[in-house]
Amino acid sequence: MARSRILRRRDRKSIAQWIKKVKKNRLPKDKSERLKIMKHKLALPYEVMGEGSKRLVYDLTKKSVLKVAINEKGLRDNKREIKIYRSAPRNLKKHLAKIRENGAGWLIMDKINQIVPDTKKNKQKLKKLEKRFKKRGIITDDLFSRSKKLKGSNTRLNKKGGMVVIDYGNFKRKK
Ligand SMILES: Nc1ncnc2c1ncn2[C@@H]1O[C@H](COP(=O)(O)OP(=O)(O)OP(=O)(O)O)[C@@H](O)[C@H]1O
Ligand SMILES: [Mg+2]
Repeated sequence: MARSRILRRRDRKSIAQWIKKVKKNRLPKDKSERLKIMKHKLALPYEVMGEGSKRLVYDLTKKSVLKVAINEKGLRDNKREIKIYRSAPRNLKKHLAKIRENGAGWLIMDKINQIVPDTKKNKQKLKKLEKRFKKRGIITDDLFSRSKKLKGSNTRLNKKGGMVVIDYGNFKRKK
């Protein structure tokens, strides 16, 4: 079982059991039904602060969140997020929410709450950032909605006002 300085042994155990179920793929497809079972099985003593389509996010500590895979796509995105974070060039890493710990199907990430206002200036800033990632071989995704609006659920502002992506599970390395 993966070590953790933050999670209790009991938490890691229930997460490991949940992930086993996700891999076996014998859970209901319906999202709300699945989430109900997930929360019940995990029985973690933390508040849920986000329900993505692929990962359930818990308010872990003052400074960190815990992301647990809801489904197989969540397993894949957690893996990708870890890979992208580890391999990102130094000057771009500060634009990715830091991953502090990870294990099978879960990761602990810095908590960043400040929403990015959907302004023209911020859109330009984010587009510039996407270009910088592209130059370094990383294809960004999911930062703008279909209607070209800034996806507030995936990008945030850190204390210094810098843009930080909190969901980069869809980023890919150029082949
Ligand atoms: N680092 C973070 N700090 C604060 N809140 C977070 C953080 N990471 C995730 N969240 C919250 O949890 C929600 C879901 O997380 P995330 O976007 O990573 O999951 P997902 O399943 O990949 O989402 P999607 O539905 O976009 O595919 C976010 O929209 C956000 O509200
Ligand atoms: Mg998201």
